[in-house]
Amino acid sequence: AENMLWGGRFTQGLDPLMVQYNTSLPYDRVFWKQDIAGSIAFARANTNSGILTAQEFAEIERGFKQIAQEWQTNTFVAKENDEDIHTANERRLGEIIGKDIGGKLHTGRSRNEQIATDMRLWLRDELRLIESHLSDLIKVSIARAEKDIAYLMPGYTHLQKAQPVRWSHWILSHATAFASELERLREVIRRVNKSPLGTGALAGNCFNIDREAMAKELGFDGLLYNSMNAVADRDFAMETMQWGSSFMLKISRWAEDLIIYSSLEFGFVRLSDAYSTGSSLMPQKKNADSLELLRGKSGRAFGQMAGLMCTIKGLPTTYNKDLQESVEPMLDHVKTVSDSIQIATGVLSTLTVIPEKMIAALAPEMLATEIADYLVRKGVPFREGHHISGRVVALAENTNVPMDTLSLKQLQEVDARFDADVQACLDYERAVELKDAIGGTSKRAVLEQTAVLKNLL
Ligand code: ARG
Repeated sequence: AENMLWGGRFTQGLDPLMVQYNTSLPYDRVFWKQDIAGSIAFARANTNSGILTAQEFAEIERGFKQIAQEWQTNTFVAKENDEDIHTANERRLGEIIGKDIGGKLHTGRSRNEQIATDMRLWLRDELRLIESHLSDLIKVSIARAEKDIAYLMPGYTHLQKAQPVRWSHWILSHATAFASELERLREVIRRVNKSPLGTGALAGNCFNIDREAMAKELGFDGLLYNSMNAVADRDFAMETMQWGSSFMLKISRWAEDLIIYSSLEFGFVRLSDAYSTGSSLMPQKKNADSLELLRGKSGRAFGQMAGLMCTIKGLPTTYNKDLQESVEPMLDHVKTVSDSIQIATGVLSTLTVIPEKMIAALAPEMLATEIADYLVRKGVPFREGHHISGRVVALAENTNVPMDTLSLKQLQEVDARFDADVQACLDYERAVELKDAIGGTSKRAVLEQTAVLKNLL
């Protein structure tokens, strides 16, 4: 270990398994760009406060340009003692520009602030991409809702046929939930994008570094104001995963609905081949694997969130190596969420809707509420109307005929207040169009919802 970057006080080498156990370079190398940008900003700030000469800064910048080139072209060669991205980059800098100048880069700096800076920068950019993917999902939902506005389907509670609704209304029920997630995500990004750089190992920087200038150079939106918190804080990763978990929960329910709707028994929708797979044994099979993976991967995303929270929960103030364990779950979580959003968008935009199957699944009993409402319009108290309508449903059930084929005479035997105009109530389109108050399933109310969502994008 004496030849490690921190090896001055060590006389013995690391156990070989310990080397592997300790190293984070295999995954934190994804931060190479952020790490270099942070180092250049740091060196520039140290130059402006007189710690480095302009000449030294130029050398450091030149070295990092080459290192960036090496990462970019996949020619960066990791060495055995490269523990993490920070030591790897600094070691290479020394090789390129010489240790005399390279050795000055780390003046007043700690890897504790570096890793926090790298993760936040990386996450900020990823979350901005996710924000645009999520907007796309909502846009595709809106477009589909507008195009398919004519289709009616059964709306369910308890997965029992409840009342007819527009298919578009179902789409927007989920899109509205996604829109809440979009708003939450924007909040999260605001807090992720704060700079820990210039806080040292925990106590702060003693070389008068200009933290504001560094934050500005790196595109941060303000500073973290307590150095001990700045190096200990993993809220940005935790909050991201809490957000991601909340989103995955939503997309999982969306997927579950579509799994049901795409089953042969329902047949409301058909998944595009691009998002389905077959069976190795049963030739007829076309499985909704994309949707099942959306449902399945949500469990994995929740696990990563819970794992990180357990890692952090009992830690003493401030930096502890446990925090390195926040990196991998965060990387995987973000990829899972990002991919999931794009898959969902693809599924929805390529889905075939089968409106005849939706109509065929509507049942006259779903209009029982319409009969109660009909009686209400004749002055019958709703409770009583509900009861009478229930007796009509029972009559149809007992005589084994669809409710809408009962004769006026039969209805009048249930209650004398039924008139010939009751027939008009037994119409799905009419039932749907009557739900015209804000948020309802009438054409007007549904299109109004798309307008509200568009405002958010
Ligand atoms: N690889 C470390 C991490 O991911 C960087 C910080 C190391 N700091 C330290 N004091 N050993 O957390």
